[in-house]
Amino acid sequence: MIFERVTAGGCQSYLIGCDETSIGALIDPEIGHMDRYLALAARDGLRIRYLIDTHTHADHFSATHEMAKRLSVPVAMHRASPAPFVDMRLDDGEMLIVGRLRVEVMHTPGHTQDSMCLLVDGRVFTGDTLLIGATGRTDLPTGDADALHRSLFERVLRLDPQVIVHPAHEYKGRSHSTIGEEIANNPRLKAGTRAEFVEMMRNLNLSMPTHVTEALRTNMSGGKTVAQMLTDAAARVPFMSLDELRRQTDAGANELIVLDVRERDQYEQAHIPGARHLPRGQLELRVNDELPDPTLRILVCCEFGRVSTLAAATLREMGFQRAVALDGGVKAWREAGHPVARSSTGRPA
Ligand SMILES: [Fe+2]
Repeated sequence: MIFERVTAGGCQSYLIGCDETSIGALIDPEIGHMDRYLALAARDGLRIRYLIDTHTHADHFSATHEMAKRLSVPVAMHRASPAPFVDMRLDDGEMLIVGRLRVEVMHTPGHTQDSMCLLVDGRVFTGDTLLIGATGRTDLPTGDADALHRSLFERVLRLDPQVIVHPAHEYKGRSHSTIGEEIANNPRLKAGTRAEFVEMMRNLNLSMPTHVTEALRTNMSGGKTVAQMLTDAAARVPFMSLDELRRQTDAGANELIVLDVRERDQYEQAHIPGARHLPRGQLELRVNDELPDPTLRILVCCEFGRVSTLAAATLREMGFQRAVALDGGVKAWREAGHPVARSSTGRPA
């Protein structure tokens, strides 16, 4: 069996594969590491055939939907998953065939209603049902401490003690554990009765994961994260550095149009000398009047360099093939000590 563990900020993804047939599956991939998974698969001579999420993640951005589009392979999740892009809805006791490997599905609700553990060749991928020395939390949407207790004690912990545990999260750098080690050492499993376990889970008082709303929005809908929107836009536009812009503005008359897409009050307080003003929110509707010549060389700027990237990508989409974005924003321009102009008229300088 080919096995790769990819760790990213506490999140763990796994690439597994059959060395006889070169068929692989990717478990719990994260959106920021798509190229890494593909590179690992290529290095190992694997063709990824399934993209599997063990559950609806609230704390990382799943890559299954995006990778499914790129690879033309199905996304597999438990049938209780709310995500509309799931191609294969799995149920307890079913199997995915990955070459000579058999990926067995155990429905283990508790951390979420759609949580499942995957048993493969003496290993169990536990998602957030069982972690090393801990369990998944049960205070996020569809979490249920009572159900988690049943899943753990009536299913997962009854596996052979030798079975290797690969969780979806590990914050202390440990690579794996075993069912036997967890039964012996995991403090969460020592709570006694189910009622005591539920009481303990209720009183964990964990802070909310960062980006929980965005993670649930994107993982449940297949929509894009803000970072993805920016990455996609940045891949379609060239950038210009602050220093190069300074050189160009110092050189005086040149063909470059600096377009400031911030709100009016920000523009009026301080803008790059000579910059024209067209707020991002009105860009598409006013562009024909403000910028009638699509061959113009336009440098788009905003406060931090993010909105300008989106605006430059929009301009390129609209036919402004020489639109570029400032690498940085007016804030960085000010802080670098470059000159700024003010305007009280509200009219472009
Ligand atoms: Fe989770």
